[in-house]
Amino acid sequence: MSKTIIVSNRLPVRITEKDGAYTLAQSEGGLATGLGSIYRDGNNVWIGWPGLEVTSTEDQARIREEMAAMNLKPVYLTQDEINNYYEGFSNETLWPVFHYMAVYARYEQSHWDCYYRVNEKFRDIILETAEPGDVIWIHDYQLLLLPGMIRAAMPDISIGFFLHIPFPSFELFRLIPWRAELLEGMLGADLLGFHTFDDSRHFINAVTRLLPINASANVLMVNDRAVIAETFPMGIDYDRYASMGNNHEVQEQLKQLKDNFQGIDMILTIDRLDYSKGILQRLEAYELFLQLHPEYAEKVVLYMIVVPSRDNVQQYKDLRDEIDKLVGGINARFRTINWHPVHYFYRSFPIETLSALYNFADIGLVTPMRDGMNLVSKEYVASRTHNDGVLILSEMAGASRELIDALIVNPNNIGAITRAIEEALIMPKPEQYRRMKQMRQVVAKFNIAHWVKLFMDRLQEVKQIQQSML
Ligand code: UDP
Ligand code: G6P
Repeated sequence: MSKTIIVSNRLPVRITEKDGAYTLAQSEGGLATGLGSIYRDGNNVWIGWPGLEVTSTEDQARIREEMAAMNLKPVYLTQDEINNYYEGFSNETLWPVFHYMAVYARYEQSHWDCYYRVNEKFRDIILETAEPGDVIWIHDYQLLLLPGMIRAAMPDISIGFFLHIPFPSFELFRLIPWRAELLEGMLGADLLGFHTFDDSRHFINAVTRLLPINASANVLMVNDRAVIAETFPMGIDYDRYASMGNNHEVQEQLKQLKDNFQGIDMILTIDRLDYSKGILQRLEAYELFLQLHPEYAEKVVLYMIVVPSRDNVQQYKDLRDEIDKLVGGINARFRTINWHPVHYFYRSFPIETLSALYNFADIGLVTPMRDGMNLVSKEYVASRTHNDGVLILSEMAGASRELIDALIVNPNNIGAITRAIEEALIMPKPEQYRRMKQMRQVVAKFNIAHWVKLFMDRLQEVKQIQQSML
């Protein structure tokens, strides 16, 4: 029986180590949480890195066995590969350029060489598992070369690729010294998926300008093989978030929040630590809000969760220090005996806590500078089962194309964020209901199962189109 092989840099579970003992925990980030519900079917398998260097071969074998029972297959990376492929090329070259922060980008030959080698390492592990008739679905910017490498080894196999981050406009993409190789790698896929129409358009534009390949609408002819680039906005497991409020643990935590924050409006923000998330600008906007509206003292809190991420990359370390300073400054300036304006947590939380917060918070504040999609905004909407609450959302997040009933802001416009906070705090309930209901319908309909089905059905169609052209 044929199977689907999902491949991503990060597995949906990660290994944590304490005193030489390894345990498995849930991974954070949109990709892992989004696909977490589908890979367990049948004999499907998910191949990826478990997030930590494991040096002893006995430990590697034991973890491999434990993971096999969960339909997972680990790709072990050495410390050198973590430094050069993961932190280096993936997160110091591709991540900043693709998020329009090219000033942060480094272009190091040694990082590129290692990126190439690690993509080959993933290829070799896939080739141990893949059989003719299988479908291989590769995810995200860490593995852009992999579709081409697999195509060379298995010319007829079905390969889908999905990019979870933005694809930048040509003027940014062209900065990368290895730009043509990256595109050639991606074109090994039969179907390439992006979150927004602009991302697909930027990709097709980059291909036709950099390679001797013509596009007819969204069909690219690559060595007589039709390759299709298309938009598939990713959804979430709506039912899970909409029903979490009935969970006993969530109810307990909700009760606690209600006791602790009586008569106080909560503004909630949840992000990985990342300069693409606009965390500093958001804090500045909140500070300005408190300055302009002293009447809200003791009546509002910013509840801010920042999940540790990529903490060996310098810009991420710097950002953490800046956040600490800014939060400290705001609390020192505005706090009273009974009230802290910012409640800041630098850690991750279980889904029950996130759900209680999504349920409780009056405002969801999501203001990335750039974000492929942003699932947090959709999780907030799905959790609002009473249809109240206001979402403030950056126009630079892919989600803003679907959640048009949010208060949409330009994240660089501090004044606009400040005004949106005020507007949200005074928004009449009927208007909250009207907006939230519309958004909930969108998130319910275009959920994660729908997204997977659309992509997989389309991949099958692309294969048929290719057959009919032979
Ligand atoms: N998340 C989590 N633990 C936390 C905080 C967040 O698992 O403590 C999840 C959150 O529920 C969401 C994902 O991390 O599903 C973040 O995805 P998003 O698309 O918003 O941003 P990304 O991290 O992928 O850039
Ligand atoms: C984003 C990326 C994912 C990545 C996640 C967490 O969602 O699109 O590919 O897994 O961030 O980042 P990390 O570097 O910890 O895997």
